[in-house]
Amino acid sequence: MRTFIIRARKGTTRWERVKSSVGGREHLEVVAHTIMNAFFVSNGFREDVEVYVVLDSSEDFPRTIKLSSNDGLSMTGFHEDAALDLIEKALKDSQGLQKDETRTIAPGIQISGFGFEKLVRQLLESRPVYLLLPKGDDIRTKTPELDPVFILSDHLAMPKNSVNGFKRHGLKSISLGKKMLFASQCVVLLHYEMDRAG
Ligand SMILES: C[S@@+](CC[C@H](N)C(=O)[O-])C[C@H]1O[C@@H](n2cnc3c(N)ncnc32)[C@H](O)[C@@H]1O
Repeated sequence: MRTFIIRARKGTTRWERVKSSVGGREHLEVVAHTIMNAFFVSNGFREDVEVYVVLDSSEDFPRTIKLSSNDGLSMTGFHEDAALDLIEKALKDSQGLQKDETRTIAPGIQISGFGFEKLVRQLLESRPVYLLLPKGDDIRTKTPELDPVFILSDHLAMPKNSVNGFKRHGLKSISLGKKMLFASQCVVLLHYEMDRAG
């Protein structure tokens, strides 16, 4: 399994604002491109891939949407709208979701009423978790362990205080070089390195 977490610091939890969050200060297109590149290859859809989209901008509590190819996720195509439709649907069909509740919305789509810290804490209990950082350990010298989880931020830096505490619990950092890339470009390179490693 390859798991990607994309934390959208300005990502709205209001379904009616999802599509208008593209190209503005929320930059939800970053999330859409990350989803597209996590799941699609030219002639198919990858198996064994999960994407967690953490939406931080909320009036009550953050939402975490889990997209999972092995649970029957389907997308209408390799384009922004298809990815944003998944987010919109998860939010629209989960109105009234309680804090910490998890609901299955459709095959391969789940939504939970919690955010980044709880998600990472849970995953660290059973999986190797890597924070993507240009200053981290070079992926070519530190190959990720089996079943990795990769954490990416959107256009905004990951707040240090939300990851520092996880280092004691095994959070590692990994680098794809010194150039600062988009999260979606990191996903392509991570797949590339792991595909090549077999
Ligand atoms: C567009 S960047 C974020 C830019 C933001 N202004 C910052 O300073 O972090 C999106 C995310 O992709 C990951 N990333 C970008 N370039 C990387 C690299 N060369 N190696 C590892 N991760 C990278 C990091 O997780 C980064 O937070």
